[in-house]
Amino acid sequence: MSEHVKIFDTTLRDGEQAPGFSMDGGGKLRMARALSDLGVDIIEAGFAVASPGDFEAVQTIAREITGTTICSLARCNTGDIRAAGEAIAAAKDSRVHVFIATSPLHREYKLKMTKDQVIDKAIAGITLALEYTDNVEFSCEDAIRTERDYLKTVVEHAIVAGATTINIPDTVGYTTPEEITDLFHFLTTEVDGAARAVFSAHCHDDLGLAVANSLAAVRGGARQIECALNGIGERAGNCALEEVAMALRTRNDFYGLDTRINTQKINMASKMLASITGNPVARNKAIVGANAFAHESGIHQHGMLANRETYEIMKPEDIGLEADNLVLGKHSGRAALKHRAEKLGFSMSENQLQSVFVDFKTLADKKKEVFDADIEALLLGEAIGAAGPWDIDSLYVSAGSDGNNQPEATIRLSHEDGRKRSMVKCAGGPVNAVLLAINELTGHDLHLDSFSARSVSEGEDAMAEADIRVSKDGESYHGRGTSTDTILATARAYLDVINRIERRAKRTKNKNGKNQQPIAAQH
Ligand code: KIV
Ligand code: ZN
Repeated sequence: MSEHVKIFDTTLRDGEQAPGFSMDGGGKLRMARALSDLGVDIIEAGFAVASPGDFEAVQTIAREITGTTICSLARCNTGDIRAAGEAIAAAKDSRVHVFIATSPLHREYKLKMTKDQVIDKAIAGITLALEYTDNVEFSCEDAIRTERDYLKTVVEHAIVAGATTINIPDTVGYTTPEEITDLFHFLTTEVDGAARAVFSAHCHDDLGLAVANSLAAVRGGARQIECALNGIGERAGNCALEEVAMALRTRNDFYGLDTRINTQKINMASKMLASITGNPVARNKAIVGANAFAHESGIHQHGMLANRETYEIMKPEDIGLEADNLVLGKHSGRAALKHRAEKLGFSMSENQLQSVFVDFKTLADKKKEVFDADIEALLLGEAIGAAGPWDIDSLYVSAGSDGNNQPEATIRLSHEDGRKRSMVKCAGGPVNAVLLAINELTGHDLHLDSFSARSVSEGEDAMAEADIRVSKDGESYHGRGTSTDTILATARAYLDVINRIERRAKRTKNKNGKNQQPIAAQH
Protein backbone atom coordinates (compact mmCIF):
# COMPACT_ATOMS: atom_id res chain seq x y z
CA MET A 1 0.00 0.00 0.00
CA SER A 2 1.28 3.50 -0.89
CA GLU A 3 2.31 5.95 1.84
CA HIS A 4 0.58 9.30 2.13
CA VAL A 5 2.13 12.70 1.37
CA LYS A 6 0.31 15.67 2.91
CA ILE A 7 -0.51 18.55 0.63
CA PHE A 8 -0.18 21.87 2.46
CA ASP A 9 -1.67 24.57 0.29
CA THR A 10 -0.33 28.11 0.61
CA THR A 11 -2.23 29.74 -2.28
CA LEU A 12 -3.98 32.06 0.17
CA ARG A 13 -0.78 33.06 2.02
CA ASP A 14 2.49 32.82 0.06
CA GLY A 15 0.50 32.95 -3.21
CA GLU A 16 -1.71 35.83 -2.22
CA GLN A 17 1.17 37.94 -0.92
CA ALA A 18 2.79 38.08 -4.40
CA PRO A 19 2.27 41.40 -6.23
CA GLY A 20 -0.81 41.29 -8.51
CA PHE A 21 -2.38 38.25 -6.77
CA SER A 22 -4.25 39.85 -3.90
CA MET A 23 -7.77 38.62 -3.14
CA ASP A 24 -10.52 40.15 -1.06
CA GLY A 25 -12.14 38.25 1.82
CA GLY A 26 -14.96 36.88 -0.36
CA GLY A 27 -12.49 35.67 -2.99
CA LYS A 28 -10.36 33.98 -0.32
CA LEU A 29 -13.37 32.18 1.15
CA ARG A 30 -14.47 30.92 -2.28
CA MET A 31 -10.91 29.74 -2.98
CA ALA A 32 -10.74 28.02 0.41
CA ARG A 33 -13.94 26.15 -0.44
CA ALA A 34 -12.48 25.05 -3.77
CA LEU A 35 -9.24 23.94 -2.04
CA SER A 36 -11.18 21.95 0.51
CA ASP A 37 -13.18 20.27 -2.32
CA LEU A 38 -9.88 19.58 -4.04
CA GLY A 39 -8.81 17.59 -0.98
CA VAL A 40 -5.79 19.50 0.30
CA ASP A 41 -4.80 18.38 3.82
CA ILE A 42 -3.96 21.84 5.16
CA ILE A 43 -5.02 25.30 3.99
CA GLU A 44 -2.65 28.07 5.03
CA ALA A 45 -5.38 30.70 5.07
CA GLY A 46 -3.19 33.77 5.64
CA PHE A 47 -0.87 35.75 7.85
CA ALA A 48 -3.38 36.84 10.47
CA VAL A 49 -1.33 39.66 11.98
CA ALA A 50 -0.70 41.35 8.61
CA SER A 51 -3.89 43.46 8.66
CA PRO A 52 -7.42 43.41 10.08
CA GLY A 53 -8.60 42.19 6.65
CA ASP A 54 -6.17 39.24 6.74
CA PHE A 55 -7.21 38.38 10.31
CA GLU A 56 -10.87 38.43 9.34
CA ALA A 57 -10.28 36.33 6.23
CA VAL A 58 -8.45 33.62 8.22
CA GLN A 59 -11.14 33.73 10.92
CA THR A 60 -13.97 33.38 8.38
CA ILE A 61 -12.26 30.47 6.64
CA ALA A 62 -11.65 28.79 10.03
CA ARG A 63 -15.33 29.19 10.86
CA GLU A 64 -16.79 28.10 7.52
CA ILE A 65 -14.49 25.49 6.00
CA THR A 66 -14.53 21.94 7.34
CA GLY A 67 -12.86 18.73 6.26
CA THR A 68 -9.37 20.20 6.18
CA THR A 69 -6.92 21.73 8.67
CA ILE A 70 -6.90 25.54 8.74
CA CYS A 71 -3.57 27.17 9.43
CA SER A 72 -2.26 30.69 9.97
CA LEU A 73 1.35 31.85 9.68
CA ALA A 74 3.16 33.76 12.45
CA ARG A 75 6.67 34.99 13.12
CA CYS A 76 8.08 33.85 16.47
CA ASN A 77 6.72 36.80 18.39
CA THR A 78 3.83 37.26 20.77
CA GLY A 79 1.65 39.57 18.63
CA ASP A 80 1.88 37.35 15.55
CA ILE A 81 1.21 34.12 17.41
CA ARG A 82 -1.73 35.49 19.40
CA ALA A 83 -3.30 36.87 16.20
CA ALA A 84 -2.79 33.52 14.41
CA GLY A 85 -4.11 31.50 17.37
CA GLU A 86 -7.21 33.67 17.75
CA ALA A 87 -7.92 33.70 14.01
CA ILE A 88 -7.96 29.90 13.74
CA ALA A 89 -9.76 29.30 17.04
CA ALA A 90 -13.09 28.33 15.44
CA ALA A 91 -11.61 25.67 13.15
CA LYS A 92 -12.35 22.05 13.93
CA ASP A 93 -8.78 21.16 12.95
CA SER A 94 -6.33 24.00 13.30
CA ARG A 95 -2.60 24.61 13.01
CA VAL A 96 -0.29 27.50 13.85
CA HIS A 97 2.76 27.79 11.61
CA VAL A 98 5.63 29.67 13.26
CA PHE A 99 8.87 30.55 11.53
CA ILE A 100 12.22 32.20 12.11
CA ALA A 101 15.19 32.56 9.75
CA THR A 102 18.18 30.33 10.49
CA SER A 103 20.74 31.04 7.73
CA PRO A 104 23.87 33.09 8.53
CA LEU A 105 22.82 35.84 6.12
CA HIS A 106 19.43 36.24 7.74
CA ARG A 107 20.75 35.90 11.31
CA GLU A 108 23.43 38.51 10.78
CA TYR A 109 21.78 41.08 8.53
CA LYS A 110 18.03 40.73 9.09
CA LEU A 111 17.57 39.47 12.63
CA LYS A 112 20.89 40.60 14.13
CA MET A 113 20.73 37.59 16.41
CA THR A 114 23.18 34.90 17.49
CA LYS A 115 22.59 31.21 16.84
CA ASP A 116 21.48 30.66 20.44
CA GLN A 117 19.11 33.63 20.39
CA VAL A 118 17.41 32.23 17.27
CA ILE A 119 16.95 28.88 19.02
CA ASP A 120 15.53 30.54 22.15
CA LYS A 121 13.08 32.55 20.06
CA ALA A 122 12.01 29.45 18.13
CA ILE A 123 11.36 27.54 21.37
CA ALA A 124 9.40 30.44 22.88
CA GLY A 125 7.33 30.77 19.68
CA ILE A 126 6.47 27.07 19.54
CA THR A 127 5.62 27.04 23.27
CA LEU A 128 3.24 29.97 22.89
CA ALA A 129 1.63 28.53 19.76
CA LEU A 130 0.90 25.31 21.70
CA GLU A 131 -1.43 27.34 23.93
CA TYR A 132 -3.76 27.59 20.92
CA THR A 133 -3.46 24.17 19.28
CA ASP A 134 -1.42 21.00 19.65
CA ASN A 135 -0.77 21.08 15.90
CA VAL A 136 2.24 23.39 15.52
CA GLU A 137 4.44 23.62 12.45
CA PHE A 138 7.88 25.18 12.68
CA SER A 139 9.82 26.56 9.69
CA CYS A 140 13.50 27.46 9.49
CA GLU A 141 13.33 30.26 6.94
CA ASP A 142 16.17 30.01 4.38
CA ALA A 143 16.92 26.52 5.69
CA ILE A 144 18.70 25.56 2.47
CA ARG A 145 21.45 28.15 3.10
CA THR A 146 21.77 27.24 6.79
CA GLU A 147 24.80 25.33 8.16
CA ARG A 148 23.76 21.66 8.34
CA ASP A 149 24.87 21.02 11.89
CA TYR A 150 23.14 24.15 13.12
CA LEU A 151 19.98 23.31 11.16
CA LYS A 152 19.97 19.87 12.81
CA THR A 153 20.30 21.47 16.26
CA VAL A 154 17.47 23.96 15.61
CA VAL A 155 15.19 21.19 14.37
CA GLU A 156 15.98 19.01 17.43
CA HIS A 157 15.07 21.88 19.77
CA ALA A 158 11.87 22.54 17.80
CA ILE A 159 10.78 18.91 18.14
CA VAL A 160 11.54 18.86 21.88
CA ALA A 161 9.52 22.11 22.21
CA GLY A 162 6.52 20.33 20.64
CA ALA A 163 6.46 21.13 16.91
CA THR A 164 4.98 18.16 15.05
CA THR A 165 5.74 19.40 11.53
CA ILE A 166 9.20 20.63 10.58
CA ASN A 167 9.31 22.66 7.40
CA ILE A 168 12.57 23.12 5.50
CA PRO A 169 12.01 26.02 3.10
CA ASP A 170 14.11 26.80 0.07
CA THR A 171 13.11 30.42 0.55
CA VAL A 172 15.15 31.77 -2.35
CA GLY A 173 14.75 28.87 -4.79
CA TYR A 174 18.46 28.00 -4.72
CA THR A 175 18.69 24.25 -4.18
CA THR A 176 18.90 21.38 -6.65
CA PRO A 177 17.10 18.01 -6.64
CA GLU A 178 20.22 16.03 -5.66
CA GLU A 179 21.09 18.44 -2.85
CA ILE A 180 17.61 18.53 -1.32
CA THR A 181 17.20 14.73 -1.40
CA ASP A 182 20.46 14.50 0.49
CA LEU A 183 19.42 17.17 3.01
CA PHE A 184 16.08 15.52 3.79
CA HIS A 185 17.76 12.14 4.07
CA PHE A 186 20.26 13.65 6.51
CA LEU A 187 17.58 15.34 8.63
CA THR A 188 15.12 12.45 8.71
CA THR A 189 17.81 9.97 9.70
CA GLU A 190 20.16 12.05 11.89
CA VAL A 191 17.88 14.38 13.87
CA ASP A 192 17.11 13.09 17.39
CA GLY A 193 13.33 12.64 17.65
CA ALA A 194 12.83 12.81 13.86
CA ALA A 195 10.19 10.08 14.08
CA ARG A 196 7.97 12.40 16.19
CA ALA A 197 7.64 14.95 13.35
CA VAL A 198 6.54 15.12 9.73
CA PHE A 199 9.22 16.73 7.57
CA SER A 200 7.98 19.20 4.98
CA ALA A 201 9.39 20.85 1.83
CA HIS A 202 8.58 24.43 0.80
CA CYS A 203 10.32 25.20 -2.50
CA HIS A 204 10.38 28.43 -4.47
CA ASP A 205 10.75 28.46 -8.22
CA ASP A 206 13.51 31.01 -8.88
CA LEU A 207 15.49 28.50 -10.97
CA GLY A 208 12.37 26.73 -12.28
CA LEU A 209 13.09 23.75 -9.99
CA ALA A 210 10.37 24.03 -7.33
CA VAL A 211 8.37 20.97 -8.40
CA ALA A 212 11.47 18.87 -9.11
CA ASN A 213 12.96 19.88 -5.76
CA SER A 214 9.74 19.07 -3.86
CA LEU A 215 9.60 15.62 -5.43
CA ALA A 216 13.29 15.14 -4.66
CA ALA A 217 12.64 16.14 -1.03
CA VAL A 218 9.99 13.43 -0.89
CA ARG A 219 12.58 10.92 -2.12
CA GLY A 220 14.70 12.03 0.84
CA GLY A 221 11.91 11.48 3.38
CA ALA A 222 9.63 14.57 3.28
CA ARG A 223 5.99 13.65 3.86
CA GLN A 224 4.43 17.09 3.43
CA ILE A 225 4.73 19.32 0.36
CA GLU A 226 3.92 23.02 0.57
CA CYS A 227 2.58 24.28 -2.73
CA ALA A 228 0.18 26.71 -4.40
CA LEU A 229 -2.31 26.40 -7.23
CA ASN A 230 -0.99 27.59 -10.60
CA GLY A 231 2.42 27.82 -8.84
CA ILE A 232 1.71 31.32 -7.52
CA GLY A 233 3.84 32.78 -4.73
CA GLU A 234 6.67 35.18 -3.90
CA ARG A 235 8.79 36.18 -6.96
CA ALA A 236 8.78 33.22 -9.42
CA GLY A 237 6.26 31.43 -7.22
CA ASN A 238 5.95 28.23 -5.21
CA CYS A 239 5.85 24.57 -6.18
CA ALA A 240 2.69 24.18 -8.35
CA LEU A 241 0.09 22.06 -6.57
CA GLU A 242 -1.40 20.65 -9.78
CA GLU A 243 2.03 19.62 -11.10
CA VAL A 244 3.27 17.91 -7.98
CA ALA A 245 -0.07 16.14 -7.40
CA MET A 246 -0.25 14.88 -10.99
CA ALA A 247 3.42 13.83 -10.92
CA LEU A 248 2.85 11.74 -7.78
CA ARG A 249 -0.27 10.23 -9.32
CA THR A 250 1.05 9.61 -12.83
CA ARG A 251 4.38 8.25 -11.56
CA ASN A 252 3.02 6.30 -8.61
CA ASP A 253 5.03 3.39 -10.01
CA PHE A 254 8.19 5.39 -9.21
CA TYR A 255 7.31 7.34 -6.04
CA GLY A 256 4.86 4.84 -4.48
CA LEU A 257 3.16 7.74 -2.67
CA ASP A 258 -0.46 8.94 -2.59
CA THR A 259 -2.10 12.28 -1.91
CA ARG A 260 -5.69 13.02 -0.94
CA ILE A 261 -6.12 15.33 -3.96
CA ASN A 262 -9.25 14.76 -6.03
CA THR A 263 -7.47 15.54 -9.28
CA GLN A 264 -10.74 15.94 -11.19
CA LYS A 265 -11.24 19.24 -9.37
CA ILE A 266 -7.87 20.66 -10.49
CA ASN A 267 -9.05 22.35 -13.67
CA MET A 268 -11.94 24.10 -11.94
CA ALA A 269 -9.86 25.28 -8.96
CA SER A 270 -7.11 26.57 -11.25
CA LYS A 271 -9.59 28.50 -13.40
CA MET A 272 -11.29 29.91 -10.33
CA LEU A 273 -7.98 31.22 -8.99
CA ALA A 274 -7.13 32.76 -12.38
CA SER A 275 -10.51 34.51 -12.44
CA ILE A 276 -10.41 35.73 -8.85
CA THR A 277 -6.89 37.15 -9.17
CA GLY A 278 -7.18 38.23 -12.82
CA ASN A 279 -4.08 36.22 -13.79
CA PRO A 280 -4.74 33.65 -16.52
CA VAL A 281 -2.21 30.82 -16.73
CA ALA A 282 0.14 30.56 -19.72
CA ARG A 283 -1.17 28.39 -22.58
CA ASN A 284 1.79 26.02 -22.28
CA LYS A 285 1.64 25.69 -18.47
CA ALA A 286 1.89 22.03 -17.42
CA ILE A 287 -1.44 20.38 -16.44
CA VAL A 288 -3.68 23.49 -16.48
CA GLY A 289 -2.53 25.48 -19.56
CA ALA A 290 -4.89 25.58 -22.55
CA ASN A 291 -2.39 23.59 -24.64
CA ALA A 292 -1.62 20.98 -21.98
CA PHE A 293 -3.93 18.43 -23.64
CA ALA A 294 -4.02 19.88 -27.19
CA HIS A 295 -2.46 17.87 -29.99
CA GLU A 296 -1.91 20.00 -33.05
CA SER A 297 0.69 18.40 -35.31
CA GLY A 298 -0.43 15.83 -37.88
CA ILE A 299 2.00 13.21 -36.58
CA HIS A 300 0.69 13.59 -33.02
CA GLN A 301 -2.94 13.53 -34.14
CA HIS A 302 -2.33 10.39 -36.17
CA GLY A 303 -0.74 8.68 -33.18
CA MET A 304 -3.52 9.83 -30.86
CA LEU A 305 -6.22 8.44 -33.15
CA ALA A 306 -4.47 5.07 -33.21
CA ASN A 307 -3.90 5.02 -29.43
CA ARG A 308 -4.18 8.02 -27.06
CA GLU A 309 -1.24 6.76 -25.02
CA THR A 310 1.18 7.44 -27.90
CA TYR A 311 1.30 11.09 -26.85
CA GLU A 312 -0.77 11.32 -23.68
CA ILE A 313 0.54 10.34 -20.23
CA MET A 314 -2.55 11.68 -18.41
CA LYS A 315 -6.18 11.82 -19.47
CA PRO A 316 -7.90 15.22 -19.67
CA GLU A 317 -10.69 13.74 -17.54
CA ASP A 318 -8.14 13.16 -14.75
CA ILE A 319 -8.02 16.90 -14.10
CA GLY A 320 -11.71 17.55 -14.80
CA LEU A 321 -11.65 18.35 -18.50
CA GLU A 322 -14.39 16.69 -20.52
CA ALA A 323 -12.73 14.32 -22.99
CA ASP A 324 -15.38 14.59 -25.67
CA ASN A 325 -16.34 18.25 -25.08
CA LEU A 326 -19.86 17.52 -26.34
CA VAL A 327 -21.49 20.73 -27.39
CA LEU A 328 -24.64 21.95 -25.65
CA GLY A 329 -27.19 24.07 -27.50
CA LYS A 330 -30.44 25.91 -27.02
CA HIS A 331 -32.42 22.67 -26.78
CA SER A 332 -30.31 21.35 -23.90
CA GLY A 333 -32.12 21.28 -20.59
CA ARG A 334 -31.25 21.98 -16.96
CA ALA A 335 -30.29 18.34 -16.34
CA ALA A 336 -27.72 18.42 -19.16
CA LEU A 337 -26.29 21.67 -17.81
CA LYS A 338 -26.14 20.29 -14.27
CA HIS A 339 -24.42 17.14 -15.49
CA ARG A 340 -21.85 19.20 -17.41
CA ALA A 341 -21.25 21.53 -14.45
CA GLU A 342 -20.54 18.51 -12.23
CA LYS A 343 -18.20 17.02 -14.83
CA LEU A 344 -16.33 20.33 -14.89
CA GLY A 345 -15.91 20.14 -11.10
CA PHE A 346 -18.52 22.72 -10.00
CA SER A 347 -20.87 21.92 -7.12
CA MET A 348 -23.75 24.39 -7.40
CA SER A 349 -26.83 24.98 -5.28
CA GLU A 350 -30.19 24.75 -7.08
CA ASN A 351 -30.48 28.55 -7.02
CA GLN A 352 -27.03 29.03 -8.51
CA LEU A 353 -27.79 26.45 -11.16
CA GLN A 354 -31.04 28.20 -12.05
CA SER A 355 -29.24 31.50 -12.46
CA VAL A 356 -26.57 29.91 -14.68
CA PHE A 357 -29.32 28.18 -16.68
CA VAL A 358 -30.96 31.52 -17.48
CA ASP A 359 -27.60 32.90 -18.70
CA PHE A 360 -26.96 29.68 -20.60
CA LYS A 361 -30.27 29.97 -22.49
CA THR A 362 -29.51 33.60 -23.40
CA LEU A 363 -26.07 32.54 -24.61
CA ALA A 364 -27.41 29.54 -26.54
CA ASP A 365 -29.79 31.87 -28.38
CA LYS A 366 -26.83 33.94 -29.54
CA LYS A 367 -24.27 31.20 -30.19
CA LYS A 368 -24.57 28.22 -32.50
CA GLU A 369 -22.66 25.96 -30.17
CA VAL A 370 -21.97 26.35 -26.46
CA PHE A 371 -18.59 24.82 -25.55
CA ASP A 372 -17.24 23.77 -22.16
CA ALA A 373 -15.16 26.96 -22.01
CA ASP A 374 -18.36 29.05 -22.42
CA ILE A 375 -20.11 27.08 -19.69
CA GLU A 376 -17.08 27.36 -17.42
CA ALA A 377 -17.10 31.14 -17.88
CA LEU A 378 -20.78 31.26 -16.83
CA LEU A 379 -20.22 28.91 -13.88
CA LEU A 380 -17.19 30.88 -12.70
CA GLY A 381 -19.16 34.12 -12.95
CA GLU A 382 -21.81 32.61 -10.69
CA ALA A 383 -19.27 30.99 -8.34
CA ILE A 384 -17.07 34.03 -7.82
CA GLY A 385 -19.24 37.01 -8.51
CA ALA A 386 -21.32 38.50 -5.72
CA ALA A 387 -23.88 40.66 -7.49
CA GLY A 388 -24.69 44.35 -7.24
CA PRO A 389 -25.39 46.96 -6.07
CA TRP A 390 -25.11 48.32 -9.65
CA ASP A 391 -26.40 46.46 -12.69
CA ILE A 392 -26.39 47.25 -16.43
CA ASP A 393 -29.92 47.53 -17.84
CA SER A 394 -28.82 48.40 -21.36
CA LEU A 395 -25.77 49.42 -23.34
CA TYR A 396 -25.52 50.68 -26.89
CA VAL A 397 -22.26 51.74 -28.51
CA SER A 398 -21.45 53.21 -31.91
CA ALA A 399 -17.90 53.35 -33.19
CA GLY A 400 -16.08 53.19 -36.49
CA SER A 401 -13.60 54.74 -38.85
CA ASP A 402 -15.72 57.77 -39.76
CA GLY A 403 -13.48 60.62 -38.62
CA ASN A 404 -16.41 63.05 -38.28
CA ASN A 405 -18.15 61.24 -35.47
CA GLN A 406 -16.65 60.26 -32.13
CA PRO A 407 -17.50 56.83 -30.69
CA GLU A 408 -20.57 57.13 -28.47
CA ALA A 409 -21.90 55.02 -25.58
CA THR A 410 -25.51 55.10 -24.34
CA ILE A 411 -25.82 53.25 -21.06
CA ARG A 412 -28.53 52.72 -18.48
CA LEU A 413 -27.69 51.49 -14.98
CA SER A 414 -29.84 50.57 -12.02
CA HIS A 415 -28.89 50.44 -8.35
CA GLU A 416 -30.36 48.01 -5.82
CA ASP A 417 -31.68 50.99 -3.82
CA GLY A 418 -34.04 51.76 -6.75
CA ARG A 419 -32.05 54.48 -8.55
CA LYS A 420 -32.07 54.30 -12.35
CA ARG A 421 -29.74 56.47 -14.39
CA SER A 422 -28.77 56.80 -18.02
CA MET A 423 -26.16 58.75 -19.93
CA VAL A 424 -24.77 59.31 -23.41
CA LYS A 425 -21.02 59.88 -23.60
CA CYS A 426 -18.60 60.48 -26.48
CA ALA A 427 -14.85 59.80 -26.30
CA GLY A 428 -11.81 58.88 -28.38
CA GLY A 429 -12.71 55.17 -28.27
CA PRO A 430 -15.79 53.06 -27.47
CA VAL A 431 -14.32 51.53 -24.28
CA ASN A 432 -13.26 54.95 -23.10
CA ALA A 433 -16.79 56.29 -23.73
CA VAL A 434 -18.35 53.42 -21.74
CA LEU A 435 -15.98 53.79 -18.77
CA LEU A 436 -16.44 57.58 -18.63
CA ALA A 437 -20.23 57.15 -18.68
CA ILE A 438 -20.06 54.57 -15.85
CA ASN A 439 -17.81 56.88 -13.81
CA GLU A 440 -20.32 59.70 -14.11
CA LEU A 441 -23.35 57.57 -13.42
CA THR A 442 -21.90 55.94 -10.32
CA GLY A 443 -19.93 58.93 -9.02
CA HIS A 444 -16.59 57.08 -9.01
CA ASP A 445 -13.40 58.38 -10.53
CA LEU A 446 -11.07 55.43 -10.92
CA HIS A 447 -7.58 55.06 -12.27
CA LEU A 448 -7.46 52.27 -14.86
CA ASP A 449 -4.20 50.30 -14.41
CA SER A 450 -4.76 47.63 -17.02
CA PHE A 451 -7.43 46.15 -19.22
CA SER A 452 -7.54 42.98 -21.31
CA ALA A 453 -10.18 41.02 -23.20
CA ARG A 454 -9.88 37.55 -24.66
CA SER A 455 -12.19 34.96 -26.16
CA VAL A 456 -12.84 31.98 -23.92
CA SER A 457 -13.95 29.53 -26.61
CA GLU A 458 -13.92 28.93 -30.34
CA GLY A 459 -15.56 30.64 -33.31
CA GLU A 460 -16.41 34.18 -34.28
CA ASP A 461 -19.38 34.17 -31.89
CA ALA A 462 -17.16 33.13 -28.94
CA MET A 463 -17.73 34.51 -25.43
CA ALA A 464 -15.34 37.25 -24.37
CA GLU A 465 -13.88 37.57 -20.89
CA ALA A 466 -12.70 41.04 -19.87
CA ASP A 467 -10.35 41.73 -16.96
CA ILE A 468 -9.85 45.15 -15.48
CA ARG A 469 -7.43 46.36 -12.82
CA VAL A 470 -8.07 49.63 -11.12
CA SER A 471 -6.49 51.47 -8.22
CA LYS A 472 -8.21 53.74 -5.75
CA ASP A 473 -6.75 55.27 -2.59
CA GLY A 474 -3.70 53.02 -2.82
CA GLU A 475 -5.83 49.85 -3.02
CA SER A 476 -5.85 47.70 -6.14
CA TYR A 477 -9.09 46.10 -7.40
CA HIS A 478 -9.72 43.50 -10.05
CA GLY A 479 -12.99 43.03 -11.94
CA ARG A 480 -14.18 40.44 -14.43
CA GLY A 481 -17.05 40.40 -16.92
CA THR A 482 -18.19 38.05 -19.67
CA SER A 483 -20.45 38.39 -22.69
CA THR A 484 -20.51 37.48 -26.37
CA ASP A 485 -20.14 41.27 -26.84
CA THR A 486 -16.61 42.42 -25.90
CA ILE A 487 -17.69 45.96 -25.01
CA LEU A 488 -20.46 44.67 -22.75
CA ALA A 489 -17.97 42.25 -21.10
CA THR A 490 -15.68 45.24 -20.47
CA ALA A 491 -18.50 47.34 -19.03
CA ARG A 492 -19.43 44.44 -16.73
CA ALA A 493 -15.80 44.05 -15.59
CA TYR A 494 -15.60 47.76 -14.78
CA LEU A 495 -18.89 47.73 -12.94
CA ASP A 496 -17.69 44.62 -11.07
CA VAL A 497 -14.83 46.76 -9.69
CA ILE A 498 -17.21 49.56 -8.68
CA ASN A 499 -19.52 47.05 -7.02
CA ARG A 500 -16.59 45.62 -5.04
CA ILE A 501 -15.58 49.10 -3.89
CA GLU A 502 -19.13 49.93 -2.82
CA ARG A 503 -19.66 46.59 -1.06
CA ARG A 504 -16.38 47.03 0.79
CA ALA A 505 -17.31 50.57 1.84
CA LYS A 506 -20.68 49.27 3.08
CA ARG A 507 -19.06 46.48 5.10
CA THR A 508 -16.60 48.94 6.69
CA LYS A 509 -19.47 51.32 7.53
CA ASN A 510 -21.49 48.50 9.12
CA LYS A 511 -18.49 47.36 11.14
CA ASN A 512 -17.63 50.84 12.34
CA GLY A 513 -21.27 51.20 13.29
CA LYS A 514 -20.77 48.16 15.53
CA ASN A 515 -17.63 49.83 16.93
CA GLN A 516 -15.35 46.95 16.07
CA GLN A 517 -11.74 47.25 17.31
CA PRO A 518 -8.92 46.97 14.75
CA ILE A 519 -6.60 44.00 15.34
CA ALA A 520 -3.63 46.18 16.26
CA ALA A 521 -5.66 47.51 19.17
CA GLN A 522 -6.68 44.02 20.29
CA HIS A 523 -3.13 42.82 20.91
O1 KIV B 1 9.63 30.84 1.73
C1 KIV B 1 9.60 30.77 2.97
O2 KIV B 1 10.62 30.61 3.65
C2 KIV B 1 8.30 30.93 3.61
C3 KIV B 1 8.24 30.61 5.07
C4 KIV B 1 7.49 31.66 5.82
C5 KIV B 1 7.65 29.26 5.26
O3 KIV B 1 7.32 31.23 2.97
ZN1 ZN C 1 7.66 30.85 0.79
